[in-house]
Amino acid sequence: MAMVCLSDFEAYAKKHLPKIAWDFFAAGADDCSTRDENILAYKRIRFRPRMLRDVSMMDIRTKLLGTEISFPVGIAPTGFHQLAWPDGEKSTTRAAAAMNTCYIASTYSTCTLEEIAAAAPGGIRWFQLYIHRNRAVSQQLVQQAEALGFQGLVLTADLPYTGKRRDDIRNGFRLPPHMKLKNLEGAFEVCKMSPLDPSVTWNDIYWLRSLTHLPIIVKGILTKEDAELAVRHGVQGIIVSNHGGRQLDGGPATIDALVEVVEAVQGKIEVYLDGGIRKGSDVLKALALGAKCVFIGRPALWGLAYKGEEGLQDVLRILQDEFRLSMALAGCASISEIGRHLVQFSKL
Ligand code: FNR
Repeated sequence: MAMVCLSDFEAYAKKHLPKIAWDFFAAGADDCSTRDENILAYKRIRFRPRMLRDVSMMDIRTKLLGTEISFPVGIAPTGFHQLAWPDGEKSTTRAAAAMNTCYIASTYSTCTLEEIAAAAPGGIRWFQLYIHRNRAVSQQLVQQAEALGFQGLVLTADLPYTGKRRDDIRNGFRLPPHMKLKNLEGAFEVCKMSPLDPSVTWNDIYWLRSLTHLPIIVKGILTKEDAELAVRHGVQGIIVSNHGGRQLDGGPATIDALVEVVEAVQGKIEVYLDGGIRKGSDVLKALALGAKCVFIGRPALWGLAYKGEEGLQDVLRILQDEFRLSMALAGCASISEIGRHLVQFSKL
């Protein structure tokens, strides 16, 4: 089967993964309206393409906090990659490094941070943190990530508790016994309740700041109020995200929330987005509305399920080609030419 677009990888993963793993990857909270809205919202945005603008030489490179990446798409943090491919996050980090883009490794990885770092030395990697009730565990992970050369710390802010994902409950989802949350081994046994700390507040940004020199990026911001707080607390970046619709159902599509966040931030820090990116033209729309870069969650897992590192590279390469083509057809030869003028919201 020719793999032409990201939906082809989705269909492959759905057909070949065990149902329990597919359901876990696909899940949204409650009746999945926010998960689905993330995708639908792109269809309400139309381009205002410009013509006759010499697009013979295309430059799609950009920078993430000063580090160059080959195009403005990175890999969002998702847990349990060994459910998709035996090498798990080692394959993910190799694919990202081969494509010269950023991979955000999850606290819930099935490989250790050392294994991930060793699998692709020199790769651009950030570490995503869920703050643990046992703060010593989180402190140790943050400091280990910094020592291993991870270049950014992503604090996920939208998961004080795990959203209600119906199929996971129906399936009694849990990791198969041979897979482990390698970075938290032992840390769970002492906790009868959820090990994640629901009492986290903005003040904990200062605590994280005291632990590390890494830039801090807050993931899960959807409003101008929280965007302003993020700036005021001195973080270096925001990821506009609703966790792929897996947390609070009924919130906005991320592409819709992006506009107010970008306005509130006024260029003081970088703003990124994840959720519902399935085509190169989605990336172009997000950049036109002010995102510096976007990240993909589920499509990366579909690529891994297809052929591990190679499959994920295929996914990234397809998105890269589609993005370059969309830019050219919209009349932009470089990222700096992309702006708000390029899109309109249709009344559909
Ligand atoms: C996630 N996401 C997530 N986020 C995070 O900060 N830490 C994590 O461990 C996970 N784990 C996770 C597992 C799975 C299976 C999914 C689908 C998602 C959320 C993720 O980073 C991102 O916000 C969304 O996946 C983006 O939406 P798309 O690209 O999947 O539509």
